[in-house]
Amino acid sequence: MMSLKGRDIISIRDLKKEEIELILDSAEKMEPYARGEKFLKLMEGKILGTLFFEPSTRTRLSFTAAMQRLGGQVMGFSGTGITSMAKGENLTDTIRTVERYCDIIVIRHPLEGSARLAAEISSKPVINAGDGANQHPTQTLLDLYTIRKVKGKIKGLNVALLGDLKYARTMRSLACALAMFGAELTLISPRGLEMAPDILSEIENRYGKKPYQTNDIDAGLRKADVIYICRIQKERFEDKYEAERMQKAFRITPEILSQCKDEVAILHPLPKVTEIDPRVDEMKAAKYFDQTFYGVPVRMALLALISGVM
Ligand code: NCD
Repeated sequence: MMSLKGRDIISIRDLKKEEIELILDSAEKMEPYARGEKFLKLMEGKILGTLFFEPSTRTRLSFTAAMQRLGGQVMGFSGTGITSMAKGENLTDTIRTVERYCDIIVIRHPLEGSARLAAEISSKPVINAGDGANQHPTQTLLDLYTIRKVKGKIKGLNVALLGDLKYARTMRSLACALAMFGAELTLISPRGLEMAPDILSEIENRYGKKPYQTNDIDAGLRKADVIYICRIQKERFEDKYEAERMQKAFRITPEILSQCKDEVAILHPLPKVTEIDPRVDEMKAAKYFDQTFYGVPVRMALLALISGVM
């Protein structure tokens, strides 16, 4: 029997394809509970610790909703200003403390590798909710779930990843997973924000896929079944002016979409800034708010599987 009990989820590479499928299938069963139509006490008496050292709306709140919909409790912080880190305590001691108060830890931190470090220190399972520009595996799980829901499959779809492919952890995680599931990838970014070579070589060597890469939005999007767009990750730029310039130049509009396939679906991890014209929000192609909801059943399934109650 496949089991995720006690597992750390730090990178999407920590999961095999069959394990990802188990999470997605389990998430289907969680949907009525995620919507509050039915009630569960699977995680009664358990506590989730959410440690957010970087801003978050969806990831933290959907983990909170997921744990509470499972009958469990949540404790944690967002921002370090009111924790003992403001007094100079290090991450290691913070994790040593928090692991004694809860059953699963969710951590988001600006440094690449921080979640892996936390997992090495903690005897309780650790879930990476974003470590700098590196990985965001639970976002990828809900992205895959959304694509499956909207398109009925992943294999063989042409998925265009559009935006800041260098600094967006959502893109780095998702690109690997899509290759694993047999999608065809188109990578579109402003010049200088291309996907890093480590991910490209993994996609090629491990999954035998060669993404089509371009800096031209129009040419890249025509064949896409799914457009996955993200914002320019301004906080990771040294030159903020440069980030703003790229942000303005990279934008999805109804005019661009009129050149795309009729059934194209647009996904976005959110938050969006200016990269999607507000008129697109009203179009049937826009699936990003449905996508944010799917974060709840997917994270419910993951928490239940890691706890071994499902
Ligand atoms: C993303 C993140 O934090 O990496 N947001 C999210 O978790 N939904 C995307 C982003 O900040 O651009």
